[in-house]
Amino acid sequence: MDQLIIYGGKELNGEINISGAKNAALPILISSLLSDKPLILKNVPDLYDIKTTFKLLKVLGVEIEKSDINVSLNAKSITQFDAPYELVKTMRASILVLGPLLTRFGKARVSLPGGCSIGSRPVDIHIKGLEAMGAKINLNQGYIDATTAHLPNNKLVGCKIFMDQVTVTGTENLMMAAVLAEGVTILENSAKEPEVEDLGDCLNKMGARITGLGTNTITVKGVNSLNTAEHTIIFDRIEAGTYLVAGVMAGGNIKCNNVDPDKMESIIQKLKETGVTVTQDKTSITINGKKDFDSVDIRTAPYPAFPTDMQAQFMALNVIANGVSEVTETIFENRFMHVQELIRMGADIDIRQNTAIIKGNALLQGTNVMATDLRASASLVLAGLVAKGITIIDRIYHLDRGYQDLEKKFNAIGAKIERVYK
Ligand code: EPZ
Repeated sequence: MDQLIIYGGKELNGEINISGAKNAALPILISSLLSDKPLILKNVPDLYDIKTTFKLLKVLGVEIEKSDINVSLNAKSITQFDAPYELVKTMRASILVLGPLLTRFGKARVSLPGGCSIGSRPVDIHIKGLEAMGAKINLNQGYIDATTAHLPNNKLVGCKIFMDQVTVTGTENLMMAAVLAEGVTILENSAKEPEVEDLGDCLNKMGARITGLGTNTITVKGVNSLNTAEHTIIFDRIEAGTYLVAGVMAGGNIKCNNVDPDKMESIIQKLKETGVTVTQDKTSITINGKKDFDSVDIRTAPYPAFPTDMQAQFMALNVIANGVSEVTETIFENRFMHVQELIRMGADIDIRQNTAIIKGNALLQGTNVMATDLRASASLVLAGLVAKGITIIDRIYHLDRGYQDLEKKFNAIGAKIERVYK
């Protein structure tokens, strides 16, 4: 398995062009299943999970053409209606094919995604919502078997659905299912993440009739079919946040381009609380780092509150910042996998249930560490950048799932990171 070798202690200065958002691109690519007309997308990031999504869509029969500026998808001749375990087990977001296949074709068989290292991550809200729309769903040998054959016109029926937990992909699956359902669907307690909004914007360009995006009540008026559309994927706020945290930790000046600061308020707020200077304009954010900065207390929660996907990165920051801090994870039950690895590098962290108490000013030493999940890997890269000596990170395929050209982007601003192909 590939490794990253990080030579710590370099100051980072320069500009980073942020790529398209993984968590917007995944549902938007899958939304192509809803239409028999071409969907043309720009700013699709080049990531491992995107490649997996292409593989899955091709298995289902979607024609995909890629150029260096866009991706064109056409689902006019879908030949298969099931998402096999072999693919779903590598990427949980595959569950998002369930809603589109069911609402357009009246049938779908999707492997249950199973858990992952950060938690059990059930999909009960996805299933309950589709059943509320009339679907018959059986769970057989680890697969979700869904059908609408018993319904008039073989179509899901819009209704009011209250999701008893804010779920990003749950909202996305049910929103896509509602696009071609009979009548109106109201999704209460919807996720407000910018990536959910970006999916809704793309669906509306395809001819869907969705209102309430970015609020906790999304209304979808069903339509019979969709048209061809073009859409540019929103920027990746988590990738941007990761590089900005690196700027604080390494004490340099880092400017992230192609971003919308209005979608990153909770992250910018926390960056400012460290005491560094944060400046922004309509499409960029700049960190003017300094050697001496403060730790910040973090409590994750659904958007617009502080994102769970930035928790591990800020923990790495707190490890070397001044003072004692608390990081509380409220979304996933096991998202502290990076803690043990950071402790091996010299961090002083104590876990009490879902809160980590971090004593700052640790002098991190480079050593061998192991990536366990996407954002935990990012926090180990950040720690390696400021550690004394060399840090070797194993299993970096986790990183490649969510960060495009990570070592290239960091090396271009002064880091020294090598990838070793094993
Ligand atoms: C999405 O995961 C993101 N993935 C995650 O990003 C992100 O961490 C998460 O949202 C929270 O923001 C994609 O968008 C592809 P949830 P998702 O459903 O949708 C519980 C990354 O690093 N829940 O919002 O799977 C669940 O257990 C990844 O890029 C149910 O109980 O997360 C969790 O506690 C990691 N039943 C909470 O809701 C359900 O049916 C929020 O999960 C669904 C969810």
